[in-house]
Amino acid sequence: MKELLWASPEFAAELEAELSAKRVAVLDRRDHLFLVENAPAALVWCEARGRRAEVLNFQSITDAQNALKKHGRLWCDTSVSHFRRSELIAQGLRVLSPRLRKAFEPVPAGPLGAYALTDEHELWMTPELVPAVPPLSWNFEESKAAPSRAYLKLWELFTRQGFRPQAGETCLELGSAPGGWTWVLAGLGCKVIAVDKGEMDAKLTANPRVKWLRKDAFARDLPEAVGGSVDWLFSDLICYPKDLLALVTDWRAKGLARHFVCTVKFQGETDTASLDQLLRIPGSYALHLQHNKHEVTWVCLQTNVETATLKIP
Ligand SMILES: C[S@@+](CC[C@H](N)C(=O)[O-])C[C@H]1O[C@@H](n2cnc3c(N)ncnc32)[C@H](O)[C@@H]1O
Repeated sequence: MKELLWASPEFAAELEAELSAKRVAVLDRRDHLFLVENAPAALVWCEARGRRAEVLNFQSITDAQNALKKHGRLWCDTSVSHFRRSELIAQGLRVLSPRLRKAFEPVPAGPLGAYALTDEHELWMTPELVPAVPPLSWNFEESKAAPSRAYLKLWELFTRQGFRPQAGETCLELGSAPGGWTWVLAGLGCKVIAVDKGEMDAKLTANPRVKWLRKDAFARDLPEAVGGSVDWLFSDLICYPKDLLALVTDWRAKGLARHFVCTVKFQGETDTASLDQLLRIPGSYALHLQHNKHEVTWVCLQTNVETATLKIP
């Protein structure tokens, strides 16, 4: 099946490298938009994808509108060139205007199509975006209460993927200062054990649901300091991917966390070797979120490892 894939404009080279490594047939590419065939379900650097893609040739604006109307009723314009012409086409279609989302709002059921003018008389289109959300539109009604903008990564992940920790669950958060993620997790009603050598926001440390450990996240005695197993391990640590891999491997091997959400940060070259090893962990996947910079978010929900309660001597 032919598909359209959108990369983040800054990370189109990463998606191209990933498609090449996975031997996906790239039929054509315009800017950060890729026309591909038989791509695997899991792609890290793909921000949005649309199924049953087609290349349509047309003569006039009306021709283009009529051709698109045959394929669907609701569209978004994702053109990468010929912007004035694509606007004129949009005027004769039902087109979704960009809007800000609320955190955790359900993803619409669809169908929603997308088109992009690639030439004066050619457009690429998909009648079925999956999910039915315009590409690169994870923009939120922001909050001034969060102590850092990192909270947007968790909002995007939870809204996009449709999961989030439940009230009463325990979340260990490594690299938590100043506290954007802690603010999200405590706001969901979770108990948060925040670990950072740096200063946490005072309003958060005064919250009875938040316990701050001013510690090194790699300290051998951290599990004892935490006091046993946790439901979730979150990490937004600035560290090498290989060190994150070692940390995750250790916590999993000891059965000390059920679910993992970790930012894998790259310095310079993208370290695909450690990311590939993380992705070998059963049931895990990674996504480049719109709010990720040169980093991806690795997720592993409900590991197969039996959760044990640590015995503190
Ligand atoms: C990107 S910031 C985290 C932002 C945070 N998630 C938020 O929402 O505000 C990375 C944090 O990792 C912390 N960090 C880096 N290495 C650490 C280590 N070995 N132990 C504990 N914290 C560490 C830094 O102090 C920094 O606060």
